[in-house]
Amino acid sequence: MSGANSEVATHWWRDAVIYQIYPRSWADADGDGVGDLPGITARLDHLAALGVDALWISPFYTSPQNDAGYDVADYRDVDPLFGTLADADALLDKAHRLGLRVIVDLVPNHSSSEHAWFQAALASPPGSPERARYLFRDGRGERGDEPPNNWQSLFGGPAWERIIEADGTPGQWYLHLFDVSQPDFDWSNPEVGDEMESVIRFWLDRGVDGFRIDVAHGLVKAAGLPDEDHSLDRHLSRTDLMPMWDRDEVHDVYRRWRNVVEEYDGDRVLVGEAWVTPAERLARYVRADELHQTFNFDYLMTPWLAPDQRAAITASLAATASVGAPTTWVLSNHDVVRHATRLGYPQRPGPVSAPGIGAADPQPDRLLGVRRARAATMVMLALPGSAYLYQGEELGLPDATELPDEARQDPTFARTGGRELGRDGCRVPIPWEGASPGCGFGPSASTWLPQPKVYAELAVDRQQGAADSTLELYRALLALRHDWSLGQGVLSWPEELADDAEVLRFTVTTPRGAVAVLANVGSDGVRIPNAARVLASSAELGQDGTVPRDVTVWLSND
Ligand code: NOJ
Repeated sequence: MSGANSEVATHWWRDAVIYQIYPRSWADADGDGVGDLPGITARLDHLAALGVDALWISPFYTSPQNDAGYDVADYRDVDPLFGTLADADALLDKAHRLGLRVIVDLVPNHSSSEHAWFQAALASPPGSPERARYLFRDGRGERGDEPPNNWQSLFGGPAWERIIEADGTPGQWYLHLFDVSQPDFDWSNPEVGDEMESVIRFWLDRGVDGFRIDVAHGLVKAAGLPDEDHSLDRHLSRTDLMPMWDRDEVHDVYRRWRNVVEEYDGDRVLVGEAWVTPAERLARYVRADELHQTFNFDYLMTPWLAPDQRAAITASLAATASVGAPTTWVLSNHDVVRHATRLGYPQRPGPVSAPGIGAADPQPDRLLGVRRARAATMVMLALPGSAYLYQGEELGLPDATELPDEARQDPTFARTGGRELGRDGCRVPIPWEGASPGCGFGPSASTWLPQPKVYAELAVDRQQGAADSTLELYRALLALRHDWSLGQGVLSWPEELADDAEVLRFTVTTPRGAVAVLANVGSDGVRIPNAARVLASSAELGQDGTVPRDVTVWLSND
């Protein structure tokens, strides 16, 4: 048996449901086709009615928007595209009045090339203190015209860019693990740590309830910036074998930040985006004096197959239990194909890799995808710990899988010459009103990415009050999860189904009682045990009362 227990459940984040808002795509107040902070504030009632505990908002800071705001030019201000600092204050105020906590994104690995520090670095000579805040190096080769090492950008191409020095000659190179306009900071320079602590305090003083930390495993690079062994697979092998990820020294940063947030009242939280494997290495980020949570990407990448699901859940619970942290669960975010689309493809054992989908690719089975997505969500929302939802999954939204190339804005698309389509498919503006232009995203018909036709029928107003809608299912599940304190439960697997290849079955025991979760992942129809009462079901049961394929039920014997 493993899971959280009620003694530690006094911390709100241990069993919270946190909803991710991607601000440019949630709600537009000014009609320019891009979502904004006033748009979020105006729609917060949706989240209160949904029943989540908190929202996490992706970056809204001053930025040239080359990576949709993950390229920050001023960490202490709001980009005019999204509003003003006063709008951020109003959002915090209304969210808090509705009982919703607000987590903001912190991007400490890199800034925008438009940040004042980087501009000063460009204007200063090699070896200057201004250059020392970033990773500037001389090039290799006789004339220095080869990159300092062989690292590749995650968005494609080399991770180094050569600059032209003030005297007009080709000069040093700087490291950018992401877009060329996202130079990496040098975290071995104490000035960088001091600046980021000051940024954290700036937002804590304004009242935010925590931070989601971008690229939390990447801040510190191996001394000497050695070449990477390209024979290792980036995401699936041991991340710490690579010189740019998961260095031991990064934990000093999180110990320092934990001390900072603990100076403040209100139980504020640090959540790391750390693509680290194996799970034991990831667990080190959530030791008692470091981050509170990390995202569980192993779970997100698990196919809809009973043995894989069981193994991922067991391993996740064990890894976090080893350090006393809550396990987290997530199925979708702004960087991956939505689960309603991923699950519309045949499922194969092993981690799912889901690059963007285009019109020329095989298209998903949409209805199968949403059926499985609802079933998978019902598994997730019963699990002990904390769960993250991505905007629009409560509507069963699919990715836009047929975006025209001209519409694509993710830098990955351009940097790979279109070889990788990128992440725009999951970032399409939310449909609020089916009959309005732009599906009611804002007061105009304009949306920064075109919405697929099916979004109109999936709009919030179409699903509100419709008994079998995905929105009403999410509302019901979140209410039940809360009533039964499922996030504080302890999970056990019944022996007789421990290796079942088609049925996933577990029980979550909480102070309120026990809820059995039964997911039919692959068989024709599974009988519900006698005497069990169905609390919720992801789709209609069979006429004979059995649980059909790709359906999950929550059961109670009480
Ligand atoms: C992870 C973010 O989630 C992603 O959207 C972004 O492109 C990279 N980090 C770089 O900041």
